[in-house]
Amino acid sequence: MKNFYVTTPIYYVNARPHIGHAYTTVLGDVLTRYHKMMDENTWFLTGTDEHGAKVQIAANDLGLTPIQHCDNIAADYQKTWKNLNIANNDFIRTTQERHIKIVKKVLQDLFDRGLIYKGTYEGHYCVPCEQYCSEQELDSDGLCPSCGRPTETRSETCYYFKLKDSREWLIEYIKTHPDFIKPSYRANETLKHLEKEMNDLCISRPKSRFDWGIELPFDPDYVCYVWFDALLNYVTAMGFGSDDERFREWWQESHHLIGKDILFTHTVYWPIMLKAMGIQPPKTIQTHGWWVVKKDAHADVAPDNADVCPEVEKMSKSKGNVITPETMISTIGVDAFRYFLMAEMNVGSDMVISIDSYINRYNTNLSNDLGNLLNRAVKLTAANFDSKIPKPGKLENIDAVLLEKAKNAVCALENHIRDIQPSRGIHEILTVIRATNKYMEETKPWELAKKGDRARLATVLYVSIEVLRIAGGALTPIMPAKMAVLRESVGASTEVSFEELKNYGISNPGTPVKDLGILFPKYLQEKETSIQSSAEKPKKQEKSVKEKKPAPVIPEGCISIEDFFKTELRTAKVIAAEPVPNTEKLLKLQVQVGEEQRQIVAGIALFYKPEDLIGKLVVIVANLAPAKLRGIESNGMLLAASAGDSLKLVTVDTPDFPSGIKIG
Ligand code: ME8
Ligand code: MG
Repeated sequence: MKNFYVTTPIYYVNARPHIGHAYTTVLGDVLTRYHKMMDENTWFLTGTDEHGAKVQIAANDLGLTPIQHCDNIAADYQKTWKNLNIANNDFIRTTQERHIKIVKKVLQDLFDRGLIYKGTYEGHYCVPCEQYCSEQELDSDGLCPSCGRPTETRSETCYYFKLKDSREWLIEYIKTHPDFIKPSYRANETLKHLEKEMNDLCISRPKSRFDWGIELPFDPDYVCYVWFDALLNYVTAMGFGSDDERFREWWQESHHLIGKDILFTHTVYWPIMLKAMGIQPPKTIQTHGWWVVKKDAHADVAPDNADVCPEVEKMSKSKGNVITPETMISTIGVDAFRYFLMAEMNVGSDMVISIDSYINRYNTNLSNDLGNLLNRAVKLTAANFDSKIPKPGKLENIDAVLLEKAKNAVCALENHIRDIQPSRGIHEILTVIRATNKYMEETKPWELAKKGDRARLATVLYVSIEVLRIAGGALTPIMPAKMAVLRESVGASTEVSFEELKNYGISNPGTPVKDLGILFPKYLQEKETSIQSSAEKPKKQEKSVKEKKPAPVIPEGCISIEDFFKTELRTAKVIAAEPVPNTEKLLKLQVQVGEEQRQIVAGIALFYKPEDLIGKLVVIVANLAPAKLRGIESNGMLLAASAGDSLKLVTVDTPDFPSGIKIG
């Protein structure tokens, strides 16, 4: 059996868990459950990062010892993961003996082999970030590039880990292993970072400053730099240095999930540390974007890259704008929250979080699309077949087409999961659910019942129940509890495998169908308890004024500004273009949209040569549902003006203007 080892970052104990942490952890849990459905051995690790000055200071402020504080927050994380139905196999805390012992062993070994050496360091030190930064790294005002606060110049004896000797090796490794850093634009970002001059890494902190860390085994006056200690959790928890055989088996299939905030520690320090220890880099480092919040609740923005969108900011403890998972769960429930996190964010891009998008997604996808389909199928089976799955007759074309669609969606989902893109997989399944509602509207089982056409009615209901079995199984890793109920009501087992989902005819005629109540009751806005950030910002007066304003009258033939903004237009830079083979009109383009790279297929080959397009800053519809043209995925549409025999692309007149900018 194949192995699948997935990790989240170990979270700092200076903050309580918020939605950002919940996202990565739910993602890990969902991937683990899917890989189990693929019949793989899985191991899911999460945990807490407990050393460093910040923790010592936080504990002091609370009048606690550092370990008391760590115990409290680690317990908080564990409780939150339990509430979110996270089935992690292990929870590592960097203050555990099993970790400390191996970190010391690694440090001693690297020191003995000259890969850690003694030197002096002089530089700009940021106290809150516990980070030195070089002259070039300071921001334009001479402040810390991470937090924007002033730094101080310091010089101290320190121990260095040899980093720069491995730079060429790392560049080569990244270039020859396209699956190592994902999405690919994060690999490019790392390569760009590696072009700059690189220093060895100072891995010691003098105890005179703080002592809440792992003591260097070769010099008791120092503790280990928190990142050097933290990164090692991925191997210490898996048995490196204590059960090496087990470790090596799992490590070959290791996948780290991280947010883009901690890219370089994972893509630069970590592979070089591993190389020094004689270990291969992990198989994949999958980087996701940030959940961001609007600075002004009424701003109309939908960024996929918060770095270029001044209306939003990262949700983070230091900004006091965090939303806790508990708040979200208490609104519509755990499974709906897990579904929202996975469906709403494409792994890679940033995403704005708002109560409206949460409730809207719940009501449309779960309550309307999936909930209604289940309700219809169960009620019609109860009324016409004594609540037993009917025996189908011969399939008509419309039935076969729908079942084929369901099977293809499951195959696509499996591929998207292997690619760590659950939102795309969910989209496939949702499309089938919608197609099944449409199928019901076309085949009209309620009329078949009235007409007494029981043979055809049996087939239509059987097909609908089969799709529900398949869709319910396909969404089980995301909504384990709700999908178990759904599968039970259509007579399917709660054990799910991908194999079962790819087959038709598994439901047994005669099996009871159960009405277990409304699976996803509609969430009415009146019921809405406003979701407040933990900072409890006072409610703005303008809000109620704004809400009371009567809706403006829209003249015939016009649209409202809200309607206009449903179309997300963005600038995009063409970085590659090639003809689609065996077609006259199609070109396949790669475009850069902010930090994201996309593929768009456009019918412009008669008007533009591929090489003339490179570097053009075009305008795309960025929120168009993905489509396939001649079997090639297209993610968005180019705007163009055509007159008679000529066609011109809409471009921005300053080509070096940034890509990814919202137009409107
Ligand atoms: O960096 N949106 O811990 P941390 C999406 N201890 N994800 C977010 C997020 C947001 N707004 N905010 C946090 C550390 N995250 C180190 C890691 S690993 C060896 C050491 C998630 O508590 C995301 O996964 O600051 C991000 O990378 C992580 O939490 C940072 O957690
Ligand atoms: Mg952080």
